[in-house]
Amino acid sequence: MPLIFDCDTGIDDSLALLYLLAHPSADLRAVLSTGGNVPTDVVCANNLAWLQLCGRDDIEVCVGADGPLETPLMTTEETHGPLGIGYAELPVATSTQSHRDAADAWIELTAENPGEYVGLVTGPLTNLALAIRRDPLLPSRLRRLVIMGGVFHQGGNTTPTTEWNIAVDPEAAKEVFAAFGQDGTPRPIICPLDLTETIRMTPDHLGRLAALAESSPVEQPGPDDEPGTRSVADNVIVRHLVDAVRFYFEFHEAQSEGYIAHMHDPFAAAVALDPSITGIRHACVDVEVDGTLTRGTTVADERGFWNRPVNAEIATTTEPDLFFDDLIDRIAAFAIAVQNSSTVS
Ligand code: RIB
Ligand code: CA
Repeated sequence: MPLIFDCDTGIDDSLALLYLLAHPSADLRAVLSTGGNVPTDVVCANNLAWLQLCGRDDIEVCVGADGPLETPLMTTEETHGPLGIGYAELPVATSTQSHRDAADAWIELTAENPGEYVGLVTGPLTNLALAIRRDPLLPSRLRRLVIMGGVFHQGGNTTPTTEWNIAVDPEAAKEVFAAFGQDGTPRPIICPLDLTETIRMTPDHLGRLAALAESSPVEQPGPDDEPGTRSVADNVIVRHLVDAVRFYFEFHEAQSEGYIAHMHDPFAAAVALDPSITGIRHACVDVEVDGTLTRGTTVADERGFWNRPVNAEIATTTEPDLFFDDLIDRIAAFAIAVQNSSTVS
């Protein structure tokens, strides 16, 4: 399944990337860098670094726009760390980004193989919106589109009513959702906070992954650890993963969410590969861009109040334990494969 992954790498984006690299069904063709958690150039450096660490610097990495369509970029280093990957310090990649920008990659890849590509966006929708502006036929060429973003029936994580990816670039999200719903275009599957905040990674999950990856020592971060404790795991993927996710555990605990980590993006990646893991509800989704208190709020009309076509499928239910079993199995096996083939000690 050829896949385009547009992300704002980020800690959970990093897990989504590893999951896609580990999954036999995913034929990852391009990783597109969108400013969000951290600035676009830092996102790009993280994408290049993860791919080279995993021996996959054959995969194209593109740089996207410097910021949102109409507003200055806001970032959240307090959530994902100064470089967007928590405490992890990845070897700086020697590989370089593609000659073409993210929007052109969306356009050209889907034009080469219409109806083939699965699109996955786990960051702001800036670059997909720019691509659709340049080529309005793009939506009809996608096989599937999965978006991690929005929140509908609970509080937000960025303002009282907004989710981060949408809040960073509400205009882009509005334009993307408006581009779908016509006959012949797939309906984006939206994975909102309502569902992704039930995907709670625990230290036990990380310990299970390390053990399954035959990594030593098996470390299980805990709230009593010295903040910023660095992993000494001998498996290179596990070591960097523990360093990244520990920062996320500490952030969630500081937010009174508990010493856990919401794994929004790898869940969206799992939906992109197998939509059957989630129940859905059809709706017409739009984004508030003018509200003073509510700018960036995603609104779902499930009852036809607006008399507009259904343009989205909202993911509403799943089995988090089954998701984590799959994530742990696949990333652990991948970590062993990378360790065995890696020149990185
Ligand atoms: O709101 C959560 C989303 O915003 C995730 O994709 C996270 O990585 C950030 O981009
Ligand atoms: Ca993200």
